[in-house]
Amino acid sequence: MSSAGAPVVDAEYMAEIERARRDVRALISSKNCAPIMLRLAWHDAGTYDKKTKTGGPNGSIRFPEEYSHDSNKGIKIAIDLLEPIKQKRPKITYADLYQLAGVVAVEVTGGPTIDFVPGRRDSSVCPEAGRLPDAKQGASHLRDVFYRMGLSDKDIVALSGGHTLGRARPERSGFDGAWTKDPLKFDNSYFLELLKGDSEGLLKLPTDKALMEDPSFSHYVELYANDEEAFFRDYAESHKKLSELGFTPARSTSCKSCDKPKMLMQAAAGVAVAAAVAAWAYLCESKKMMG
Ligand code: HEM
Repeated sequence: MSSAGAPVVDAEYMAEIERARRDVRALISSKNCAPIMLRLAWHDAGTYDKKTKTGGPNGSIRFPEEYSHDSNKGIKIAIDLLEPIKQKRPKITYADLYQLAGVVAVEVTGGPTIDFVPGRRDSSVCPEAGRLPDAKQGASHLRDVFYRMGLSDKDIVALSGGHTLGRARPERSGFDGAWTKDPLKFDNSYFLELLKGDSEGLLKLPTDKALMEDPSFSHYVELYANDEEAFFRDYAESHKKLSELGFTPARSTSCKSCDKPKMLMQAAAGVAVAAAVAAWAYLCESKKMMG
């Protein structure tokens, strides 16, 4: 089976998205599951290949074929937590729901507001294993993986700041520990910890350390450690890019209504011109009659 059709993003779909947004907020606050929600959104999207236009935020991670990849250990927890929301709001695609959960996870833990545009179609075609980054490697591997998605050095560093949330578990990745002292708060502490170097009890993956060793990456690490606003601004931009890989939003209904005033103006201008011509003709006619 290939891809299902894109959802129709009408006013009702938008209203369902807003309801789902509230459901996800409630879920995250009752289960404290922001980190794994963000990881789910990233792992669904991060398989994108811009050359073949395969993978990406299309909900395919919901299938055992994909969530059983080694890199996705533990992800099924997030899939199962979101399933009741999908059952309650079946119109919303899995692809939209998983990306919405990522956006909400960042917001409710104190991070930036990320623009969310719905309309992603679901796919049942799972990408092969090995498209997500391997934490044991370095800068050139990070570039191979993120450039394949069409993302940049700045995106790599900004998005790595997602490790401000959550922790690694030995039974999932083989690594152990959190990156920051408060793993349920989204802030720039991941970068501050990177600058500090090794600290007792906190985790740094080889790929995290690689951000300090490469001059193009470390420039952004320093920027984000010193300026949280810059991090939030760039993170929101990169996260939106990640969440829209291979997705071109349809023209939304709200934009169609934006065109309405323009059409009214054009109609009004047409009426004004017609009135001016009529007045001119009338004047000419009366002049003729007088002369
Ligand atoms: C740059 C390459 C990346 C590598 C190699 C990587 C690797 C990892 C690893 C090994 C874990 C531990 C998983 C576990 O043991 O449960 C993890 C967790 C996590 N990652 Fe990444 N990651 C990367 C990028 C990202 C990005 C781009 C984001 C989001 C924008 C992200 C968000 C997270 C979160 C939130 C967790 C914690 C999950 C939890 O607490 O359950 N990661 N990552």
